[in-house]
Amino acid sequence: MLPKIELHLHLEGAAPPAFIRGLAKEKSIDVGGIFDERGNYSYRDFWHFLKVYEAATSVLQTPQDYARLTRAVLEDCAASGVVYAETFVSPDFCGGRDIGAWREYLHAMQEAAAQVAAQGGPELRGIVTCIRHFGPDKARETALCAAETVGGFITGFGIAGDEKAGKPVDFAWSFDCAREAGLRLTAHAGEWGGPDSIRDALRDLGVERIGHGVRAIEDLALVDELAERGTVLEVCPGSNIALGVFPDWRAHPIAELDRRGVKVTVSTDDPPFFHTTMEREYQMLHRAFEWDDGQFRRLNRTALDAAFCDADTKARIAKTLEAA
Ligand code: ADE
Ligand code: ZN
Repeated sequence: MLPKIELHLHLEGAAPPAFIRGLAKEKSIDVGGIFDERGNYSYRDFWHFLKVYEAATSVLQTPQDYARLTRAVLEDCAASGVVYAETFVSPDFCGGRDIGAWREYLHAMQEAAAQVAAQGGPELRGIVTCIRHFGPDKARETALCAAETVGGFITGFGIAGDEKAGKPVDFAWSFDCAREAGLRLTAHAGEWGGPDSIRDALRDLGVERIGHGVRAIEDLALVDELAERGTVLEVCPGSNIALGVFPDWRAHPIAELDRRGVKVTVSTDDPPFFHTTMEREYQMLHRAFEWDDGQFRRLNRTALDAAFCDADTKARIAKTLEAA
Protein backbone atom coordinates (compact mmCIF):
# COMPACT_ATOMS: atom_id res chain seq x y z
CA MET A 1 0.00 0.00 0.00
CA LEU A 2 1.42 3.38 -1.04
CA PRO A 3 1.88 6.04 1.63
CA LYS A 4 -0.60 8.84 0.96
CA ILE A 5 -1.05 12.54 1.66
CA GLU A 6 -4.57 13.85 2.15
CA LEU A 7 -5.21 17.62 2.06
CA HIS A 8 -9.02 17.88 2.07
CA LEU A 9 -10.79 16.12 4.92
CA HIS A 10 -13.58 17.51 7.09
CA LEU A 11 -13.09 16.23 10.64
CA GLU A 12 -16.81 15.88 11.46
CA GLY A 13 -17.48 14.62 7.93
CA ALA A 14 -14.98 11.82 8.52
CA ALA A 15 -16.81 10.61 11.66
CA PRO A 16 -17.73 6.93 11.28
CA PRO A 17 -21.54 6.60 11.56
CA ALA A 18 -21.15 4.04 14.37
CA PHE A 19 -19.08 6.57 16.30
CA ILE A 20 -21.83 9.22 15.99
CA ARG A 21 -24.53 6.66 16.92
CA GLY A 22 -22.50 5.56 19.96
CA LEU A 23 -22.06 9.12 21.17
CA ALA A 24 -25.76 9.93 20.57
CA LYS A 25 -26.71 6.88 22.68
CA GLU A 26 -24.29 7.77 25.49
CA LYS A 27 -25.76 11.27 25.65
CA SER A 28 -29.39 10.27 24.94
CA ILE A 29 -29.53 12.63 21.96
CA ASP A 30 -32.03 12.04 19.16
CA VAL A 31 -30.20 12.95 15.93
CA GLY A 32 -33.29 12.25 13.80
CA GLY A 33 -33.41 10.09 10.70
CA ILE A 34 -29.87 10.63 9.45
CA PHE A 35 -29.03 6.95 8.94
CA ASP A 36 -30.31 4.44 6.38
CA GLU A 37 -31.35 0.86 7.20
CA ARG A 38 -27.72 -0.29 6.96
CA GLY A 39 -26.58 2.34 9.43
CA ASN A 40 -24.87 4.58 6.84
CA TYR A 41 -25.50 8.31 6.59
CA SER A 42 -28.53 9.01 4.44
CA TYR A 43 -29.19 12.23 2.46
CA ARG A 44 -30.92 13.24 -0.77
CA ASP A 45 -28.57 15.82 -2.25
CA PHE A 46 -25.74 18.19 -1.33
CA TRP A 47 -27.96 20.64 0.57
CA HIS A 48 -29.59 17.84 2.55
CA PHE A 49 -26.09 16.41 3.09
CA LEU A 50 -25.12 19.68 4.81
CA LYS A 51 -28.13 19.33 7.14
CA VAL A 52 -27.34 15.68 7.95
CA TYR A 53 -23.70 16.69 8.54
CA GLU A 54 -24.77 19.35 11.04
CA ALA A 55 -27.21 16.94 12.77
CA ALA A 56 -24.45 14.34 13.16
CA THR A 57 -22.09 17.05 14.44
CA SER A 58 -24.61 18.07 17.12
CA VAL A 59 -23.59 15.05 19.25
CA LEU A 60 -20.00 16.36 19.43
CA GLN A 61 -20.31 18.64 22.43
CA THR A 62 -17.06 18.61 24.41
CA PRO A 63 -13.31 18.78 23.79
CA GLN A 64 -13.17 15.14 24.90
CA ASP A 65 -15.65 14.20 22.14
CA TYR A 66 -13.35 15.85 19.60
CA ALA A 67 -10.31 14.03 21.02
CA ARG A 68 -12.15 10.73 20.52
CA LEU A 69 -13.24 11.81 17.02
CA THR A 70 -9.66 12.74 16.10
CA ARG A 71 -8.42 9.30 17.15
CA ALA A 72 -11.23 7.51 15.26
CA VAL A 73 -10.59 9.50 12.08
CA LEU A 74 -6.82 8.97 12.22
CA GLU A 75 -7.38 5.24 12.64
CA ASP A 76 -9.31 5.21 9.34
CA CYS A 77 -6.63 7.35 7.68
CA ALA A 78 -3.93 4.93 8.81
CA ALA A 79 -5.90 1.97 7.42
CA SER A 80 -5.63 3.58 3.95
CA GLY A 81 -1.92 4.29 4.25
CA VAL A 82 -2.33 8.02 4.89
CA VAL A 83 0.86 9.33 6.53
CA TYR A 84 -0.01 13.02 6.58
CA ALA A 85 -3.44 14.67 6.57
CA GLU A 86 -4.83 18.17 6.88
CA THR A 87 -8.29 18.40 8.37
CA PHE A 88 -10.88 21.18 8.37
CA VAL A 89 -11.88 22.19 11.89
CA SER A 90 -14.53 24.79 12.70
CA PRO A 91 -14.84 26.95 15.81
CA ASP A 92 -18.55 27.10 14.83
CA PHE A 93 -18.89 23.47 15.94
CA CYS A 94 -16.16 23.64 18.60
CA GLY A 95 -17.45 26.01 21.26
CA GLY A 96 -19.59 28.34 19.12
CA ARG A 97 -16.64 30.61 18.14
CA ASP A 98 -15.86 31.50 21.76
CA ILE A 99 -12.08 31.87 21.85
CA GLY A 100 -11.66 30.31 25.30
CA ALA A 101 -13.77 27.30 24.39
CA TRP A 102 -12.06 27.02 20.99
CA ARG A 103 -8.65 26.82 22.70
CA GLU A 104 -9.89 23.90 24.81
CA TYR A 105 -11.28 22.00 21.82
CA LEU A 106 -8.12 22.66 19.87
CA HIS A 107 -5.92 21.49 22.72
CA ALA A 108 -7.89 18.22 22.91
CA MET A 109 -7.63 17.57 19.14
CA GLN A 110 -3.97 18.52 19.01
CA GLU A 111 -3.08 16.29 21.97
CA ALA A 112 -4.97 13.33 20.48
CA ALA A 113 -3.22 13.86 17.13
CA ALA A 114 0.19 14.14 18.80
CA GLN A 115 -0.37 10.85 20.64
CA VAL A 116 -1.31 9.09 17.39
CA ALA A 117 1.76 10.51 15.61
CA ALA A 118 4.05 9.53 18.51
CA GLN A 119 2.85 5.94 18.06
CA GLY A 120 3.81 5.97 14.39
CA GLY A 121 0.37 6.95 13.07
CA PRO A 122 -0.41 9.72 10.55
CA GLU A 123 0.62 13.33 11.20
CA LEU A 124 -2.33 15.71 11.34
CA ARG A 125 -2.62 19.48 10.88
CA GLY A 126 -5.73 21.66 11.15
CA ILE A 127 -7.20 24.21 8.75
CA VAL A 128 -9.65 26.50 10.55
CA THR A 129 -12.72 26.72 8.36
CA CYS A 130 -15.60 29.14 8.30
CA ILE A 131 -18.98 27.96 7.05
CA ARG A 132 -20.22 29.99 4.12
CA HIS A 133 -23.95 29.64 4.81
CA PHE A 134 -23.44 30.81 8.40
CA GLY A 135 -22.58 34.22 6.89
CA PRO A 136 -19.70 36.75 6.91
CA ASP A 137 -20.18 37.96 10.52
CA LYS A 138 -19.64 34.50 11.97
CA ALA A 139 -16.77 34.00 9.52
CA ARG A 140 -15.04 37.06 11.03
CA GLU A 141 -15.30 35.57 14.52
CA THR A 142 -13.95 32.29 13.12
CA ALA A 143 -11.01 34.11 11.51
CA LEU A 144 -10.22 35.79 14.84
CA CYS A 145 -10.22 32.36 16.55
CA ALA A 146 -7.86 31.15 13.82
CA ALA A 147 -5.57 34.16 14.13
CA GLU A 148 -5.35 33.65 17.92
CA THR A 149 -4.31 30.02 17.56
CA VAL A 150 -1.82 30.06 14.67
CA GLY A 151 0.99 27.71 15.42
CA GLY A 152 2.25 24.15 15.18
CA PHE A 153 -1.13 22.48 14.63
CA ILE A 154 -3.23 25.20 12.97
CA THR A 155 -1.59 25.98 9.66
CA GLY A 156 -4.37 27.23 7.40
CA PHE A 157 -7.70 28.96 6.98
CA GLY A 158 -10.52 28.04 4.61
CA ILE A 159 -14.19 28.20 3.80
CA ALA A 160 -16.65 25.34 3.30
CA GLY A 161 -20.42 25.01 3.26
CA ASP A 162 -22.99 26.04 0.69
CA GLU A 163 -21.05 27.48 -2.22
CA LYS A 164 -24.17 29.22 -3.44
CA ALA A 165 -24.58 31.31 -0.26
CA GLY A 166 -23.12 34.80 -0.71
CA LYS A 167 -19.96 35.67 -2.66
CA PRO A 168 -16.29 35.12 -1.85
CA VAL A 169 -15.78 38.90 -1.53
CA ASP A 170 -18.15 38.88 1.49
CA PHE A 171 -15.48 36.83 3.27
CA ALA A 172 -12.45 38.89 2.16
CA TRP A 173 -11.99 40.48 5.62
CA SER A 174 -11.76 37.02 7.23
CA PHE A 175 -9.20 35.81 4.71
CA ASP A 176 -7.14 39.02 5.06
CA CYS A 177 -7.19 38.56 8.84
CA ALA A 178 -6.05 34.93 8.54
CA ARG A 179 -3.32 35.81 6.00
CA GLU A 180 -1.98 38.60 8.21
CA ALA A 181 -1.82 36.13 11.09
CA GLY A 182 0.43 33.90 8.98
CA LEU A 183 -2.08 31.27 7.89
CA ARG A 184 -2.03 29.62 4.45
CA LEU A 185 -5.30 29.84 2.52
CA THR A 186 -7.70 27.54 0.68
CA ALA A 187 -11.37 27.86 -0.34
CA HIS A 188 -14.08 25.50 -1.56
CA ALA A 189 -15.01 26.63 -5.08
CA GLY A 190 -15.85 25.10 -8.43
CA GLU A 191 -17.76 22.21 -6.85
CA TRP A 192 -21.30 23.67 -7.11
CA GLY A 193 -20.32 27.00 -8.61
CA GLY A 194 -18.92 27.21 -12.14
CA PRO A 195 -15.56 28.60 -13.33
CA ASP A 196 -16.40 32.12 -12.11
CA SER A 197 -16.64 30.86 -8.53
CA ILE A 198 -12.98 29.81 -8.83
CA ARG A 199 -11.93 33.13 -10.38
CA ASP A 200 -13.76 34.96 -7.56
CA ALA A 201 -12.04 32.91 -4.84
CA LEU A 202 -8.60 33.49 -6.38
CA ARG A 203 -9.15 37.23 -6.84
CA ASP A 204 -11.12 38.10 -3.68
CA LEU A 205 -9.68 35.66 -1.14
CA GLY A 206 -6.12 35.28 -2.46
CA VAL A 207 -6.06 31.53 -1.86
CA GLU A 208 -3.22 29.30 -3.03
CA ARG A 209 -5.31 26.10 -3.04
CA ILE A 210 -8.87 25.45 -4.17
CA GLY A 211 -11.09 22.81 -2.56
CA HIS A 212 -12.50 20.84 -5.50
CA GLY A 213 -12.10 23.37 -8.35
CA VAL A 214 -13.08 20.64 -10.79
CA ARG A 215 -15.64 22.72 -12.67
CA ALA A 216 -12.70 24.73 -14.02
CA ILE A 217 -12.85 22.17 -16.82
CA GLU A 218 -15.82 24.11 -18.26
CA ASP A 219 -13.45 26.99 -19.13
CA LEU A 220 -10.12 26.00 -20.68
CA ALA A 221 -8.72 29.54 -20.35
CA LEU A 222 -9.17 29.17 -16.59
CA VAL A 223 -7.56 25.72 -16.69
CA ASP A 224 -4.49 27.29 -18.38
CA GLU A 225 -4.48 30.07 -15.78
CA LEU A 226 -4.58 27.56 -12.90
CA ALA A 227 -1.70 25.65 -14.50
CA GLU A 228 0.35 28.85 -14.95
CA ARG A 229 -0.31 30.13 -11.43
CA GLY A 230 0.47 26.72 -9.92
CA THR A 231 -2.83 26.74 -8.01
CA VAL A 232 -3.29 23.37 -6.33
CA LEU A 233 -6.67 21.64 -6.56
CA GLU A 234 -7.80 19.48 -3.66
CA VAL A 235 -9.78 17.08 -5.83
CA CYS A 236 -12.22 14.65 -4.18
CA PRO A 237 -13.48 12.48 -7.05
CA GLY A 238 -15.51 10.00 -4.96
CA SER A 239 -17.28 12.91 -3.25
CA ASN A 240 -18.11 14.55 -6.60
CA ILE A 241 -19.53 11.31 -7.98
CA ALA A 242 -21.52 10.47 -4.82
CA LEU A 243 -23.05 13.98 -4.87
CA GLY A 244 -23.74 13.91 -8.61
CA VAL A 245 -21.34 16.65 -9.74
CA PHE A 246 -20.20 14.09 -12.37
CA PRO A 247 -22.09 10.95 -13.35
CA ASP A 248 -19.26 8.42 -12.97
CA TRP A 249 -15.50 7.99 -12.57
CA ARG A 250 -14.69 8.00 -16.30
CA ALA A 251 -16.54 11.31 -16.65
CA HIS A 252 -14.54 12.95 -13.84
CA PRO A 253 -12.16 15.68 -15.13
CA ILE A 254 -9.22 14.96 -12.79
CA ALA A 255 -7.16 13.20 -15.47
CA GLU A 256 -7.85 15.93 -18.04
CA LEU A 257 -6.92 18.67 -15.56
CA ASP A 258 -3.70 16.79 -14.81
CA ARG A 259 -2.91 16.39 -18.53
CA ARG A 260 -3.39 20.12 -18.98
CA GLY A 261 -0.78 20.87 -16.33
CA VAL A 262 -2.96 21.72 -13.33
CA LYS A 263 -1.54 20.61 -9.98
CA VAL A 264 -4.09 18.04 -8.80
CA THR A 265 -4.15 16.11 -5.52
CA VAL A 266 -6.61 13.47 -4.27
CA SER A 267 -8.64 13.47 -1.05
CA THR A 268 -11.86 11.98 0.35
CA ASP A 269 -13.73 15.08 1.69
CA ASP A 270 -16.22 13.29 4.02
CA PRO A 271 -15.33 9.63 3.48
CA PRO A 272 -18.16 7.71 5.25
CA PHE A 273 -20.79 9.99 3.70
CA PHE A 274 -19.48 9.09 0.26
CA HIS A 275 -18.72 5.41 0.98
CA THR A 276 -15.07 5.97 0.26
CA THR A 277 -11.54 5.81 1.66
CA MET A 278 -8.21 7.03 0.29
CA GLU A 279 -7.46 3.44 -0.72
CA ARG A 280 -10.71 3.26 -2.69
CA GLU A 281 -10.05 6.62 -4.40
CA TYR A 282 -6.71 5.27 -5.66
CA GLN A 283 -8.28 1.98 -6.79
CA MET A 284 -11.04 3.75 -8.71
CA LEU A 285 -8.58 6.18 -10.34
CA HIS A 286 -6.46 3.22 -11.38
CA ARG A 287 -9.52 1.54 -12.91
CA ALA A 288 -10.89 4.65 -14.63
CA PHE A 289 -7.64 6.16 -15.95
CA GLU A 290 -5.09 3.37 -15.56
CA TRP A 291 -3.14 5.54 -13.16
CA ASP A 292 -0.18 3.56 -11.84
CA ASP A 293 2.19 3.80 -8.86
CA GLY A 294 4.35 6.34 -10.70
CA GLN A 295 1.35 8.62 -11.20
CA PHE A 296 0.26 8.25 -7.57
CA ARG A 297 3.78 9.03 -6.35
CA ARG A 298 3.77 12.19 -8.46
CA LEU A 299 0.38 13.12 -6.99
CA ASN A 300 1.67 12.68 -3.45
CA ARG A 301 4.76 14.80 -4.11
CA THR A 302 2.48 17.56 -5.42
CA ALA A 303 0.35 17.21 -2.28
CA LEU A 304 3.37 17.35 0.03
CA ASP A 305 4.69 20.46 -1.75
CA ALA A 306 1.26 22.07 -1.29
CA ALA A 307 0.88 21.02 2.35
CA PHE A 308 0.61 23.86 4.85
CA CYS A 309 2.95 22.34 7.46
CA ASP A 310 6.48 23.52 8.33
CA ALA A 311 9.61 22.52 6.39
CA ASP A 312 10.87 20.03 9.02
CA THR A 313 7.59 18.10 8.95
CA LYS A 314 7.66 18.11 5.14
CA ALA A 315 11.21 16.75 5.11
CA ARG A 316 10.19 13.97 7.49
CA ILE A 317 7.13 13.03 5.42
CA ALA A 318 9.21 13.19 2.21
CA LYS A 319 11.54 10.53 3.65
CA THR A 320 8.53 8.28 4.36
CA LEU A 321 7.28 8.73 0.79
CA GLU A 322 10.72 8.01 -0.67
CA ALA A 323 11.31 4.95 1.50
CA ALA A 324 8.16 3.22 0.24
N1 ADE B 1 -18.64 20.55 4.14
C1 ADE B 1 -18.37 19.25 4.22
N2 ADE B 1 -18.16 18.74 3.00
C2 ADE B 1 -18.32 19.74 2.11
C3 ADE B 1 -18.24 19.85 0.70
N3 ADE B 1 -17.95 18.81 -0.08
N4 ADE B 1 -18.47 21.04 0.15
C4 ADE B 1 -18.76 22.09 0.92
N5 ADE B 1 -18.85 22.04 2.24
C5 ADE B 1 -18.63 20.87 2.84
ZN1 ZN C 1 -14.91 19.72 1.35
